[in-house]
Amino acid sequence: MELYDFGRVIDRKGTSTYKYEELEQDFGRCDLLPLWIADMDFEVCPAITEAIRHRVCDHAIYGYTMPPASYWQSIIDWQRERNHFEFTRDEMCFIGGIVTGFGLVINHYTKPGDKVVIQQPVYHPFKNVITANGRIAVNNALIETPDGFYKMNLEELEQIFIEHHPRLMVVCNPHNPIGIAWDIESLREVARLARKHGVLLFSDEIHGDLMIFGHRHTPLATVSDDAAAVTITMGAPSKTFNIAGLKSSWCVIKNPEVRRPFFQWLENNELCSPHLIALTATEAAYRHGTEWLNQCLHYIEENILMVENFCREHIPGVRAIRPQASFLVWLDCSGLGLCHEQVHDMFINSAHLALNDGTMFGQAGSCHMRLNVGTSRTVLEKAMHQLADAVATLKK
Ligand SMILES: Cc1ncc(COP(=O)(O)O)c(C=O)c1O
Repeated sequence: MELYDFGRVIDRKGTSTYKYEELEQDFGRCDLLPLWIADMDFEVCPAITEAIRHRVCDHAIYGYTMPPASYWQSIIDWQRERNHFEFTRDEMCFIGGIVTGFGLVINHYTKPGDKVVIQQPVYHPFKNVITANGRIAVNNALIETPDGFYKMNLEELEQIFIEHHPRLMVVCNPHNPIGIAWDIESLREVARLARKHGVLLFSDEIHGDLMIFGHRHTPLATVSDDAAAVTITMGAPSKTFNIAGLKSSWCVIKNPEVRRPFFQWLENNELCSPHLIALTATEAAYRHGTEWLNQCLHYIEENILMVENFCREHIPGVRAIRPQASFLVWLDCSGLGLCHEQVHDMFINSAHLALNDGTMFGQAGSCHMRLNVGTSRTVLEKAMHQLADAVATLKK
């Protein structure tokens, strides 16, 4: 069995990497360890590189391209085997990125002034896309539980459906930034309420193949007949296999009445035409990436445990909330006794770390930061020491 080296520190500077190139713009300085935007610092599975190399170098004609049957089948097989999510070729289409896909969903299924439910703290582009398109975001805030984790507020959700008559709701499944693998009961209840009140569900499952610590991904569309009837699912190999720059995603809609007009509209406007490298990389990833992914997830788990232990021992004011999925760790910094602005300033100007500001995901993210642990342990350990030193300086 080939062992992949996730510990190698790879210099990404000068490669048009968002994580580095945007530091000055977003944080006001460049001398920060970038542990923010959600891609990983790991080299991809060699089978992906080899498939791209083969296609690019051994056949240097890059004309109009259509997805081969084997491309669709690689997604169908992967989802069936890994997540017990069954669908057919007719129920799927290509989408060039999930945020792009969400924008298409907003434009097709809703009209200006319509309400769309989100569950903050949640991945910030949902709200941005909703409001930028003249729709109104309604927040069904997650509830923080006594054990420091989060759950859905399902009672409030029904009230929102009754009072606001939203057309659409976004389910971030698994949930970013907290890394929640939603339980089947919550998903069933959301779907039951949605169908009862005529709401469509947009299920963003981009983190669904990054399950850790024994948790399982439950695709929303699989939980009940209600869910299958109202859910638009989007998923991707982009987070899973670290190929976000290739803009490859897929959409599945089980209900033909929901699906047909949308897919027709996408096709009429050529909004679902894949590009060559996305197809090549996606198929290679789904067909040959399992062992790489298993080792990657193991490395991520070890990184999370290191962060948890380090905080417990050296920075008790910062609590790392253990995610059930993905490589993002929600840090509760309320124990530092600082206001949010001070926390934010300390991470940048004292610890010299670039993390995502918790309030980016909604006001409930106050005194929280989101840490990307998809990096070499050497880098992560350095980051944790910088944070500990910054917190120690606070006390002086
Ligand atoms: C929940 C979620 N959806 C979508 C995206 C972005 O997807 P894409 O790059 O395909 O637009 C991210 C990236 O962090 C994410 O966390």
